Amino acid sequence: MTVAPSRDEAAGVHPAALAAPADVADASVWAVRTEGLTKRFRSGQVAVDGIDLAVPRGAVYGFLGPNGSGKTTTIRMLLGLVQPTSGVAWLLGRRMPESAATVLPRVGALVEGPAFQPYLTGRANLARLEAADATADPRTARGRAEAALERVGLAAAAAKPYRQYSLGMKQRLGLAAALLRPRDLLVLDEPTNGLDPQGTREVRHLVRELAAAGTTVLVSSHLLTEIEQVCSHVGIMSRGRLLVQGERESLVAREAVRVRLLTRPADVAAATAVLRRLGLHDVVDEPAGAEGAPVTATVGDHDPAAVVAALVAEGVAVLGFGVERPSLEQMFVELTGEGFDVAR
Ligand SMILES: Nc1ncnc2c1ncn2[C@@H]1O[C@H](COP(=O)(O)OP(=O)(O)OP(=O)(O)O)[C@@H](O)[C@H]1O
Ligand SMILES: [Mg+2]
Repeated sequence: MTVAPSRDEAAGVHPAALAAPADVADASVWAVRTEGLTKRFRSGQVAVDGIDLAVPRGAVYGFLGPNGSGKTTTIRMLLGLVQPTSGVAWLLGRRMPESAATVLPRVGALVEGPAFQPYLTGRANLARLEAADATADPRTARGRAEAALERVGLAAAAAKPYRQYSLGMKQRLGLAAALLRPRDLLVLDEPTNGLDPQGTREVRHLVRELAAAGTTVLVSSHLLTEIEQVCSHVGIMSRGRLLVQGERESLVAREAVRVRLLTRPADVAAATAVLRRLGLHDVVDEPAGAEGAPVTATVGDHDPAAVVAALVAEGVAVLGFGVERPSLEQMFVELTGEGFDVAR
């Protein structure tokens, strides 16, 4: 698929991001760009293999891939925590890691293994991070820390020492640290790790809220379904390579969208005839069940409403009718030939 997004304009995404190729360093268009970004570890393993990330300003970019596919390594390179073996990365239009000092204050990050002090409370840990941030206004520090704790649902546990935190609480504190001040870009590495379903919903809600307020969000996950719904854009990693990226809607190919009619067994022949006459492809009648006889077909450019109208006009009993869009997960499996959760 395309590196630069795509035909339809997504809400909040800068219009110029849709008219590729844009200048990779244009910060009004791109929040993150990389070219040929590569990391080969000393072990010889190529964890990230020449990827060209393109995260438009205003996007919620789901950075997806199975365990070990290179997501964290990529994110660590973006944030200047790991030196790339080769390739280039721009964050908010500035080269990384050279521009770390000027760019990173505008970037909130949640990455594996954040540096919290085990014997300090959650609140005291945030205060420490605040104090270490030379660009933050110390007069409003307390208010910001409290607001961040509130926002991630940690206010009640703020007085507990970090070492007594559950995994979910630790994760929430990491999120609070990323939210200490307004950011132009949030980079969240597996923010739902260790969270219960309610916590996962809260993170999704938070991401939506932040995106609505204009923050670009790059969020990684090995669990596609956890973040799929909030993403405007998606990039899928497998074995160090970026297999596809682009607008989520356009990644699921239109050709793959099928209609599914339920009719009476006696009407199957008439139904398949109508669908074929309309020009729908791959018309298949499936074994009838208790609910009726299913007939499916690839919808292509046809308007599903017109298909129903034509069926009814021909006297075909329409007991049920649906449009089945393949999920990203199905696409992923087709692309990689592996399940989503397979480790390397
Ligand atoms: N410091 C390191 N030294 C050597 N190999 C490493 C190092 N860090 C990561 N790797 C390897 O690089 C590959 C990619 O790891 P990475 O942590 O980037 O994957 P990931 O997509 O974040 O996985 P997960 O979903 O499990 O978090 C893995 O095979 C991993 O073993
Ligand atoms: Mg990871």
